Order: sequence, then C-alpha cells, then structure tokens
Amino acid sequence: MTISRPAAVIVLAAGEGTRMKSATPKVLHTIAGRSLLHHAIVAARGVDPVHLQVVVRHDRDRVAAHVAEVDPDCLIADQDEIKGTGRAVECGLDALPADLTGTVVVTCGDVPLLTAETLRALLGTHHAQQCGVTVVTSRLADPTGYGRIVRHPDGGVARIVEHKDATADELAITEVNSGIYAFEAALLREALASIGTANAQGEKYLTDVVGAARARGRAVAAYVLEDVWQAEGVNDKAQLAALGAELNRRTVQAAMRDGAIVRDPATTWIDTTVSIGRDTVILPNTQLLGATTIGAACQIGPDTTLTDMEVGEGATVCRTQGSLSVVGPGASVGPWALLRPGTELGAEGKIGSFVETKNVAIGVGSSIPHLSYVGDTRIGDHITVGAAFAETPAADDTREQA
Ligand code: UD1
Ligand code: MG
Repeated sequence: MTISRPAAVIVLAAGEGTRMKSATPKVLHTIAGRSLLHHAIVAARGVDPVHLQVVVRHDRDRVAAHVAEVDPDCLIADQDEIKGTGRAVECGLDALPADLTGTVVVTCGDVPLLTAETLRALLGTHHAQQCGVTVVTSRLADPTGYGRIVRHPDGGVARIVEHKDATADELAITEVNSGIYAFEAALLREALASIGTANAQGEKYLTDVVGAARARGRAVAAYVLEDVWQAEGVNDKAQLAALGAELNRRTVQAAMRDGAIVRDPATTWIDTTVSIGRDTVILPNTQLLGATTIGAACQIGPDTTLTDMEVGEGATVCRTQGSLSVVGPGASVGPWALLRPGTELGAEGKIGSFVETKNVAIGVGSSIPHLSYVGDTRIGDHITVGAAFAETPAADDTREQA
C-alpha cells in the first residue's frame, strides 16, 4: 500500500522537563551524538511531511536556534501560557496554513528511539482503517505515570485517561499512550476547540481528543508497538543513560550486521552517524563519534576516541584521540597519539607514540615515529621526522630535534 505524505508532523518540545534538574532544556540533552529533539526530527523527516514543525516555549530561543541548526527547513511555533499537550498542538496548528487538510502526525521531542518505520506503520494503520485518530500504544509491565488506553467493547480506543485522573480500575490497565498519534487535520482542529482544562493538572490534554473524536462518531484505532523502547520518553538523567545505552546497543548490533567485528560491544560507543567498513576490528573501550567513517579491514582501538575522522582501508589506530582528521589507507597511528583538527596522514604513513599533530599534511609513506609535536606545516612523501632516528647511526650526540 502506498501511504500518502502527512500534511504535517508536529513535534512537541515546549515542556520544561523539571525532572532533568538541568540548566540545559530537556530536549537538548544528547544521546549517540544528537539531541533528543534532533532524533525526533530525523524520524519525522523520514515520513516526508509537507510541513515539519516543532512547538517550543521553555528556553524558547535556545531550542529554536538548535532546530534551525540541525534542520533549517523545520518550522517553529510558540506555545502560549496555556499549559498542556493539547494546547501545544493547537498553537502548532494555528501557525500552519488555515486550509491544511489530510493527516497530522504528533510526536514528542523527548522520545528519541522512535523510528520513521514506526511512523510509517502508524500511518498505514491510520489510513487502512480510515480513522479519525490513531494512537501508538505499548503494553508495559509497569505503566506508572503514563496515560492509560481505555478500550471500547468494539476493540477500538474509547478514551485515554491520565495517570493522575485515573480510577483504581483504570490504573490496572497496562496498555499505555506513547504520546505519538496520527489525526485527521479537520477533526483535530475541531476537537481541540471543544476541550477544556477540568482535570487533575488543569491542563489542556491532547489525549482528550480521543474521547472527543469518539463522541463525533469517528473511529479511533491503536497501533500497538511491540518494541517498547521506541515509545519511551526521557524524563530524568537515569532514563537519558538507559535510552542512550539501548540506542548504542542497537547501533553496535547494526555495525556488526554490516560486517564490522566488535570485540566488546559493552565498551564500544558508536554514534548513529558513523560508518564502518567490513572486517574492521573494533577493540575494547573505543568511541567512534560524529561523522566518522572507517574503511574496511582496519584495526581501531583499544582505548581510542575518534570524532569526525576519516580512516582509510587497512589502517591501524591504537590508543589514540583524534578529531577532524584523515588517516590514509594502510597508515598507522599510535599508541598514545593525539590528532588535532586538520591532520592528514598519507597512505602507509605513520604517526607513532606520544605524537601530537595539528593542521599538517603528511605525505605518502612518511613517518613521525615518536615524541613530537608537528603542526601548521606540510611534510613530503617518504620522510621521517622525529626526536630520534632509529635508522640513522648516531655518529655523535647532535640528534635532530623536531
Ligand atoms: C503525555 C500524555 C500521556 C502519555 C505520555 C507519554 C498528555 C496529556 N499525556 O504525558 O498520556 O502516556 O505523554 O510519554 O498528553 N509539552 C508541550 N507543551 C506542554 C506540555 C508538554 O509541548 O504544555 C510537550 C513536552 O515537551 C513533551 C511532550 O509534550 O515533549 C509530553 O509532555 P509531558 O509533560 O512529558 O507529558 P506526560 O505527562 O508525560
Ligand atoms: Mg513525559
């Protein structure tokens, strides 16, 4: 089935995130090298919406500047002083074209593991069943804190009740609202206008749209997510670490499936933006970050951190820290090297132990074997630079200094 483009994805990011206890807005905290909000934006882009919009309020300028940096085409809408997820969506809709029709998807800026595939499946269910609303749900052993899904005898969703408003019977329901939905635009607009704030939190709840849709005779379906991690939001720093570790586990698994050999997945950290060639061996305690690309048949680590690095096929990088640098094919780096931005090591070249480099082009087969700082210069091919030349017999004691 072909699924038509959603008219809009609205990403909610106006909440304060008090439980994070941080000077940084919750949605700007990072896992796997990207902010929580950036992960949400990437997933949303994956369904190719006509409009992609983020709703902001708390620390507004900082969050808006971040959005402009990571996705310049993303729209920003401001939530006013009325609180709640329903109000956030209403403010978002007000900033979109008044004649918007079709499907509006709503996601949360603090749910970083949600994938575009899940959003596509949500849209598939929504369109196939011609629903007014389709909500992504999951079944949790411990549903504490989440909105509960109250099912109708017809199998559809009757309404969603927030934890703080639920009766004892409703609290026993283990199917929860993930906070991710597809709505028919006109119904969403109309239902939001009819919703009040008479609830335990005095907020305008987006979840009340479900009951309002039902009252208008519209079908409300659930898309049940088996992969419960994808529905999890970050509310505190313990969850930030837990979701970060899970995302890393998934990224390391994917790298191994693509042909990398990872000796110790538990101590290997790979950002989702990294690529690794076949049969490259990653040794323990290695972090591959940012836009790093590693060729095939390399050996990386142990104890190595590479950020925005390009490493050519068959290279070896051992106990090294490097950023914004290039290591040529067959070259060797470390142990104990520091490659600062702008280092370009030629094919078969060597940067050895206790060497620091910066902004230097080192030619093919050239070597800086040890104990040197080399920066802001160019070195030709097949040249050896260093504190001491093992190859040169020391006739006297006047050894060349680097
Ligand atoms: C919400 C749902 C709940 C669901 C849970 C899933 C409502 C009323 N409740 O509860 O059913 O189980 O998410 O995680 O929707 N936000 C705004 N403006 C606001 C308030 C929140 O933009 O005024 C944003 C937040 O930044 C966040 C998202 O909406 O990205 C969810 O807000 P949060 O306060 O975490 O809602 P929950 O109480 O967790
Ligand atoms: Mg929440």
